[in-house]
Amino acid sequence: MTTTKTGREALLAVYAPPEAVFVEGRGAWLFDDEGRGYLDFTSGIAVTSLGHDAPEVRRAIERVLDTGVIHTSNLFRTEPAEALAQELIELAFPGSVFFCNSGAEVGEAAFKFARRWARSAGGAAKHEIVSFGGGFHGRLFGTLAATDRPRYREPFEPLMPGVRWATVGDLASVDAVCSRERTAAVVIEPVQGEGGVRPVDPEFLRGLRRICDEREVALVFDEIQCGLGRTGDLFAHEASGVRPDVLGLAKPLAGGLPMGAVIVAPHIAETIRPGDHGTTFGGGPLVASVARAILAKVSTPEFLAGVRDRERALSEAVDALIASEPRLKGRRGRGLMQGLLVDEAAGPLVAAARDEGLLICSAGPDVLRLLPPLNVPIHELHEGVERLARAFQRVPAP
Ligand SMILES: Cc1ncc(COP(=O)(O)O)c(C=O)c1O
Repeated sequence: MTTTKTGREALLAVYAPPEAVFVEGRGAWLFDDEGRGYLDFTSGIAVTSLGHDAPEVRRAIERVLDTGVIHTSNLFRTEPAEALAQELIELAFPGSVFFCNSGAEVGEAAFKFARRWARSAGGAAKHEIVSFGGGFHGRLFGTLAATDRPRYREPFEPLMPGVRWATVGDLASVDAVCSRERTAAVVIEPVQGEGGVRPVDPEFLRGLRRICDEREVALVFDEIQCGLGRTGDLFAHEASGVRPDVLGLAKPLAGGLPMGAVIVAPHIAETIRPGDHGTTFGGGPLVASVARAILAKVSTPEFLAGVRDRERALSEAVDALIASEPRLKGRRGRGLMQGLLVDEAAGPLVAAARDEGLLICSAGPDVLRLLPPLNVPIHELHEGVERLARAFQRVPAP
């Protein structure tokens, strides 16, 4: 049978990508099918943290291909998943790890594990999830229910019931909805990503820990976007000194292959039984081997110091641009996760940056989000900011 659709039309239109078709990637650069190079400051939305064609990723894939075992399902044991789980709990906190295939799956699993634990002590009523204004946890029925994007939610309601809302920075708002009898979990991103690149005050995270301890509620940190070196710390919550009960990781974990990990503290892990959750693909040898290679690289002090050096270089360059470009109102973020605030729609500026050969994304209506690879050469950070400066010239001021 022949089809009259173009390739673009054949894809379900849940995205509206620009025309360029990318066919090659090297380091911080993507190249389209006309040979045009673009500095990629999206990293596939905080995924390809070692850049494109990273030798660590390539070598790990080749090693797995040599074994011939890229999938067995979780009916059987394989070495890479077990080794990766050990390495993750060594680096994060004692506990156990569940592997899945995406960020949203991390959130769904985290909610299930938290509910399982909460109900085992508190009974069936203890099931609610407290989420925050600006929070983003995924597009499935549970995670979407805990995501503060009415436009994404409303067409699909009813979503998972039992989500209550609080305000970041306002412990009284948490106190009002977090209940010993009804609440299973509080979920928060230590740096909100989609909600506008907003670092959460460490003192607020400590306050959440206190409330969760008092009321026997699981504290869930969603570090799907901000974790694994992006902030200059391996885990974004480290600076707060707070240990969550559940930690979610995904995007950069397997260097561009789909993978998520949910790390659960022992008191929650011991309430989980075979059959409580599952996934055919999660933690397969291919993704787990690549993740081990990524983790070995991004967890070293030298690598993390390099991220902080790049943060300084990027911040200085962006601050200089803010000083000369009145349409830029400020900057916020941590590490190589930076949001530039504008007083106009971000979309046309993102498009103009692309015309200048710079890929960036927005984070909400008026924030330009920069997510360069964590090992980007410093001169390419400067080049990216120069391209951004030129993008402003292309878009008439509103
Ligand atoms: C903090 C956070 N959580 C969850 C998700 C959902 O991840 P995925 O798109 O892999 O389902 C995202 C995606 O942007 C995210 O930024």
